[in-house]
Amino acid sequence: MSQRVAILISGGGSNMVRLLEDMAQPGHAAHPVLVLANDPDAGGLAKAAAQGVATKVIDHRDFKGDRAGFEAAIDKELRDSDVDIVCLAGFMRILGAEFVKGWDGRMLNIHPSLLPKYKGLNTHQRALDAGDTEHGCSVHLVTPELDDGPILGQAKVAIKQGDTAQDLAARVLKQEHQLYPKVLREFAASLKAE
Ligand code: GRF
Repeated sequence: MSQRVAILISGGGSNMVRLLEDMAQPGHAAHPVLVLANDPDAGGLAKAAAQGVATKVIDHRDFKGDRAGFEAAIDKELRDSDVDIVCLAGFMRILGAEFVKGWDGRMLNIHPSLLPKYKGLNTHQRALDAGDTEHGCSVHLVTPELDDGPILGQAKVAIKQGDTAQDLAARVLKQEHQLYPKVLREFAASLKAE
């Protein structure tokens, strides 16, 4: 049975688009059933709808001071859509331990650094400030600790003299677009084989 995938986004959704494109290829072990955003203005929503994928907004601002309620609403959408795999793709809300544990071994995230380096935000500037000569992105399983779960794949870019954080972000994003579909493809195939 083809694995049912939900993608959680907050913004433009360029990684989401790449995941959808790859899942549309013949022989993929998964297919998208839902794109969910925490922001009604997330640009990725229209892109998903244009691909014929169901979309949903759970606006975190409707749940002020009630993260558990926000996460319960997301969880209900995922369960109602009978989701097997959750992909976080530029989803900019931190998810609590209870929610994460409910998707143990089934939720992936892409992070713009070579984990375990630079968990959290501003990863490109932090790599520059540290004088690193290489940087990149990681896809990992999500565990309750932020950006900490087992790494499923990484892609590297060289840091060049004079690079700005914007330069690096653009170069890393290109790699993200290659890496995330590749990892999801392998991950879905491994679940299917179980
Ligand atoms: C990516 O850099 C991702 O790694 C980070 O947020 C950005 C999302 O970009 N978490 P997009 O929404 O996929 O275009």
